[in-house]
Amino acid sequence: MQQPVYPSAEAVEEVVALMSTLPPLVTSWEIESLKTQLAEAAAGRRFLLQGGDCAESFQECNSAQIASKLKILLQMSLVLVHGTRKRVIRVGRFGGQYAKPRSEDYEARDGVTLPSYRGDLINAVGFTEAERTPDPQRMLRGYERAALTVNFIRSLIDGGFADLHHPEYWDLDFVQHSPRGAEYQRIVESIGESLRFMEALAGTTAGEINRVDFFTSHDALLLPYEQAQTRRVPRRDGWYNLSTHLPWLGMRTCGIDGAHVAYMRGISNPIALKVGPDMTPPKLKDLVEVLNPGNEPGRLTLIHRLGADQINDLLPPLVEAIEKSGATVLWCCDPMHGNTHRTPSGIKTRSFDHILSELERAFEIHERLGTYLGGVHFELTGENVTECLGGARGLTETDLARDYQSQVDPRLNYEQALEMAMLIARRASGKLGVARSAER
Ligand code: PEP
Ligand code: CO
Repeated sequence: MQQPVYPSAEAVEEVVALMSTLPPLVTSWEIESLKTQLAEAAAGRRFLLQGGDCAESFQECNSAQIASKLKILLQMSLVLVHGTRKRVIRVGRFGGQYAKPRSEDYEARDGVTLPSYRGDLINAVGFTEAERTPDPQRMLRGYERAALTVNFIRSLIDGGFADLHHPEYWDLDFVQHSPRGAEYQRIVESIGESLRFMEALAGTTAGEINRVDFFTSHDALLLPYEQAQTRRVPRRDGWYNLSTHLPWLGMRTCGIDGAHVAYMRGISNPIALKVGPDMTPPKLKDLVEVLNPGNEPGRLTLIHRLGADQINDLLPPLVEAIEKSGATVLWCCDPMHGNTHRTPSGIKTRSFDHILSELERAFEIHERLGTYLGGVHFELTGENVTECLGGARGLTETDLARDYQSQVDPRLNYEQALEMAMLIARRASGKLGVARSAER
């Protein structure tokens, strides 16, 4: 499902053969380390923070955007460590998030019909035959950009981000617009104090004691691309997808007899499965069984994305079915994808309040059922775009026109993302549950 029709199968094979000889982007020991950490999260001892764009574009592979995305994720993770008192697993859904599933294979405009745009890994967004024809060379271009992205991230982390160790440098202007401003300020000051305390105690700088792990994920949608990076490694059993640590499986490609499920069954990476409103408890149970027959802890992360208005009805039966089956999974909430709507003027957006509301309900439901919500996934960017409504600054429909950049789904901007982390931290530290209801 969801595979492009390339003009020449031979040209695809040539690219796959070449890519198969290039060095991998990640290693099997990093992958196994992530799996161990995800198993600890499933057991309630860690928390998973995942974020990135809905789709990366080749054009946005530049230092400013990569650095700002990494920065917001690291800042959010510090806030979460502080609030949850748990170690946070950081995963960027980037360095390979270049392919998107589409509901239609073709797009028609003014009597001209061309293949749909499927992401930069496959074709280009412009509406000409040349741009829309799937080009296998794009797999190589994507692979190179993924390598550049991962390389830059590794260097930034090794070098230590000054902003990370000095929360006083954080861009916190938005705090003054929030009724919880003073509390946010206290969180940030307290993180700063903790870091200084650690530095004093260890007699070193946080840069050295705070070497963080960072992992990548992406939708493993374009099978030739994933296949080219799927290899055996010395002294380990099985096959590894070495293009990413955590490949994702989407709702449109999770047919139990389909090629994507067959592929996922065959690799040893931890995998993430999207769970949308169309997922039924029996289907989820079957998928979990097929994808993790040995019930290996850490192997499977279920990312539910049901929508604030549907989660109360849809999530409990799904959780109960998995609990009853005895499977060990990591439950993670994506409060973005079930809360997308169009404004009267036709702009695709999401509201901060709906996102927060789904998240709060997810925490409540898992608590009530005795399961652990051990992670979140956000679509976000480190820039101050205006794509989602609300947040401390109260972005309105009129603001959306000002700086809307996403080609696909609307993302939380820097301030909205940081505020979301503060609200999760607040709940985890026992003060929330109530963030909004107390104010109503
Ligand atoms: C996504 O995960 O960003 C997304 C748009 O999901 P899907 O198209 O698989 O529903
Ligand atoms: Co998306």
